Amino acid sequence: MSKETMAFKQRPLGVLAALPQELGDLVDAMRADGELRTVTVGRRDYHVGTVYGVPCVVTLARVGKVAAAATASALIHVFDVDAIVFTGVAGGVGSQVRVGDVVVANALLQHDLDASPLFPRYEVPLLGVTHFAAYAELADELAAACERFVADEGAALAERFRLHGARVHRGLVISGDRFVSSSEEVGALRAALPDALAVEMEGAAIAQVCYEHDVPCAIVRTISDTADDHATASFTSFLTDIAHAYSSGILRRFLEARSRA
Ligand code: ADE
Repeated sequence: MSKETMAFKQRPLGVLAALPQELGDLVDAMRADGELRTVTVGRRDYHVGTVYGVPCVVTLARVGKVAAAATASALIHVFDVDAIVFTGVAGGVGSQVRVGDVVVANALLQHDLDASPLFPRYEVPLLGVTHFAAYAELADELAAACERFVADEGAALAERFRLHGARVHRGLVISGDRFVSSSEEVGALRAALPDALAVEMEGAAIAQVCYEHDVPCAIVRTISDTADDHATASFTSFLTDIAHAYSSGILRRFLEARSRA
């Protein structure tokens, strides 16, 4: 067990998001649970404590695949987490996915990784992998928490923010170092990767690091925009007004269920 987590009998869960709005009220919830210790590593603050009774290390990755990979690596090597859960928003890619829906990843792929013709498109060179699977049990728990959140709060949120009734989807999430914000670009992604449900900028990097270290991971994304010409405005207002409520509500249900298990 590492120095940073010796206080826990049980190895902690790593919980992270890219931006503060995407983390919801998790740090406040940790503070409300009791003592919180903040450790700074690689210009990031890692909050160590319990949330709804579950030992956790909570942090912000910031945006992009390198930031996400560095943060996942620190969670594993410095904080000895036993699993990682990532929460945040994403652009909808699948035609059935609408703003306000939730996507829990079954698998993740880097849509901007292309070392062809040396290696097949999307394959991580020398690892021989294109798709990184989420840890099924953890993804199931997360999806169950999303379903409970949508059942409890979906209708009120939909009315308040004029959204469609939220649905929970499971499937492929694609990641790249690009905010996708044109109909042309999202159309190209849809054509190249017809199974993709959502696009974001961190998930596949987290999943790759977790795969390399045999650490279970799961990723949940609320759809803030549809990655088209309206994406920037939709993303900005969703992030400001709504993302917090989704992440707080989903993670509370997920962690409460874990603490009872
Ligand atoms: N995160 C949320 N919306 C996104 C988009 N359109 N492209 C990339 N990442 C996103």
